[in-house]
Amino acid sequence: MAGCTDLPFRLLCREYGADLCYSEMIDSHGLVSQRQDCLELLHTTATEQPVVMQLYGNDPDIMGEAAAILSEHPIAAIDINMGCPMEKIVRTGAGAALMKNPRLAEKIITSVCNNSSKPVSIKIRSGWNQHTITAPGIAKIAEGAGAQAIAIHARTWSDGFTGSIDHEVILQTMKNVSIPVFVNGDITTHEQGLALFKKIGCAGVMIGRAALGAPWIFSKDVNPHPSMTYRIKALLRHLALAEIHLAPEPNLSKIRNHAWKYFRGAPTGPAIRKKIDATTTYSELKSFIDSLAERVFQQ
Ligand SMILES: Cc1cc2nc3c(=O)[nH]c(=O)nc-3n(C[C@H](O)[C@H](O)[C@H](O)COP(=O)(O)O)c2cc1C
Repeated sequence: MAGCTDLPFRLLCREYGADLCYSEMIDSHGLVSQRQDCLELLHTTATEQPVVMQLYGNDPDIMGEAAAILSEHPIAAIDINMGCPMEKIVRTGAGAALMKNPRLAEKIITSVCNNSSKPVSIKIRSGWNQHTITAPGIAKIAEGAGAQAIAIHARTWSDGFTGSIDHEVILQTMKNVSIPVFVNGDITTHEQGLALFKKIGCAGVMIGRAALGAPWIFSKDVNPHPSMTYRIKALLRHLALAEIHLAPEPNLSKIRNHAWKYFRGAPTGPAIRKKIDATTTYSELKSFIDSLAERVFQQ
């Protein structure tokens, strides 16, 4: 998830039991022109393997070049983003716009597969809108072009993040291909994820938003609303990883944005968020969390 699944957060999710994490989406043009912000997204470590890195773009040649660059990195697979709904992305024909342009999608997938020494997967939506449900057809095209797995967030571009995911489209998509299909969307607890996995019979499930501030969602038998002590310990581990793998001061806003989410649903959550939002340096943020820990751990 753009702005969220950086290396420290992915490592934390792996520690809590996630089998596999994805990078933030990486701009293929930026990667090919060696833009610093794109190169930074390539950071990984041996301990987080296997990791998937995700590319987005609208140009088959550039996507191929970017895939060749990614192939040189110690990653498990390259994923193609075909689900991002953001205006600035779809306007260029990339992300979810590929769900209404199967020809371009095929060219991009073929180019990425031809230029990658790693397995290639695609992450799709159900389609562009309810009149253009293209997931089953695009899945078939992707399989023919060499993709080895598919993840589906079973909403259309026009659904955005509203309504529920469409089980029927998922089943049709699975029926149309023999490569593994992973299902994504609206899983808010570990049990819900397992239930969906069993109900659909898919290769696996993927969790996005519900893991933010709650990486324990990947662990079995953890209360979905854990104690303050549990939340703070998880956040302290997140901060420790951020100190090792990110430059914390320049990334303060990103870290703050993770930090307050650990207190979602807790009675004192809103007050804690205010305090976190008011911090202006990483050391201020860290001191505040340390003082909170001291108070809570003593209770
Ligand atoms: C802030 C944010 C950033 C996201 N960035 C990406 C991304 O870079 N690549 C991607 O495939 N999906 C991205 N997504 C979509 C999620 O991966 C996921 O498909 C969607 O949120 C539905 O799953 P969920 O209900 O588990 O969150 C993003 C979603 C959010 C909210």
